[in-house]
Amino acid sequence: QAAEKGGYDHFMLKEINEQPEALKAAITGRIKNGEPVISEINNIEEFIKNNLKKIFIVACGTSYHAGLTFKYFMNRYSKIDVDIEVASEFRYMNPHVDENTLVVAISQSGETIDTLEGIRIAKEKGAKVITISNVYGSTIPRESHGAIYMNTGPEIGVAATKTYTAQIAILYALGAKIIELTEGLNEEIRGILKGIEKMPEIYKEVLKLNEKIKELAREYVKYQHMMYIGRGFGYPTALEGALKLKEISYIHAAGYQAGELKHGPIALLDEQFPVFAIIPKDSLYEKMKSNLMESRARNANIIAITTKGNEEIKQLANEYIMVPETHEALYPLVMAPVIQLFSYNVAVLRKLDPDKPRNLAKSVTVE
Ligand code: G6P
Repeated sequence: QAAEKGGYDHFMLKEINEQPEALKAAITGRIKNGEPVISEINNIEEFIKNNLKKIFIVACGTSYHAGLTFKYFMNRYSKIDVDIEVASEFRYMNPHVDENTLVVAISQSGETIDTLEGIRIAKEKGAKVITISNVYGSTIPRESHGAIYMNTGPEIGVAATKTYTAQIAILYALGAKIIELTEGLNEEIRGILKGIEKMPEIYKEVLKLNEKIKELAREYVKYQHMMYIGRGFGYPTALEGALKLKEISYIHAAGYQAGELKHGPIALLDEQFPVFAIIPKDSLYEKMKSNLMESRARNANIIAITTKGNEEIKQLANEYIMVPETHEALYPLVMAPVIQLFSYNVAVLRKLDPDKPRNLAKSVTVE
């Protein structure tokens, strides 16, 4: 097994570090000079052009967070209605899908029972289903009208890492393809896709932050709770940060839309309850800033991930990590390795095995 880990202590660390290659593999042949090429949906192109009125995203766990990021993307760049639900809710809620709906199912394993039952219901109601998966021939893609495989190579660590970023990249390419077929692409979207093509290089830089992240983990490992906050594209990242921390380090963590703090969660904050802020220099930066100030006024310690060059963060947060500047829609990709490495380091400091968290399975095939 040591050989399989390629010199890393754990599969999770190996897989986090594989993200430059994994992302490259995921987009190869699918994004070319800012143009989306998704041949996997050729058979439903006519449907997309003539019938598509609604997209419904269905997934669980980390895949759901990739889906939520996709929802923000589609909401911003297309006029198509987009809805999302975790699969265990979707399957019991009489979901509003019909023959004009495209269901986008996301499942690393392709075997998650709730997602599988969800797409079966969607198909019965006449919807078209396209699945993003990492496992060739698995059940969910086989039962879908189209399947886009992530090509990242197997993911052994129970906590999803490289497949999360691959999912976001593919979903953006898929979204751009749908926009091209329905409304037409614009330069901004092409720019985002070009940004994804540069991501493997950017990742090499982001992964070098591990030493600094390790230091932060040493300081924050003592806490029993952590609140992740973000807005807009930063919100799904906050949810994923919180999920990663609880999954492998067993520290209680919650993700909130930063604007919701004042409606309840802020009551929890004090010097024992730190905040992990997703605060890139984007269109919601000023709003996030006020939320950080509110948190600081309650004596909460703050770790912030922000954009390189944002010197102001030194006054706003106790600790900070800076990532390369990118397009607003791409911060979920740029920041993902940071939240992953933070959780990984905390788990290791707590002497836990991040590859095999208690009570969790890589693929959940029973309800
Ligand atoms: C399990 C795993 C998670 C994963 C979720 C969904 O709970 O522990 O890491 O995100 O299932 O899995 P899927 O294979 O459908 O993406």
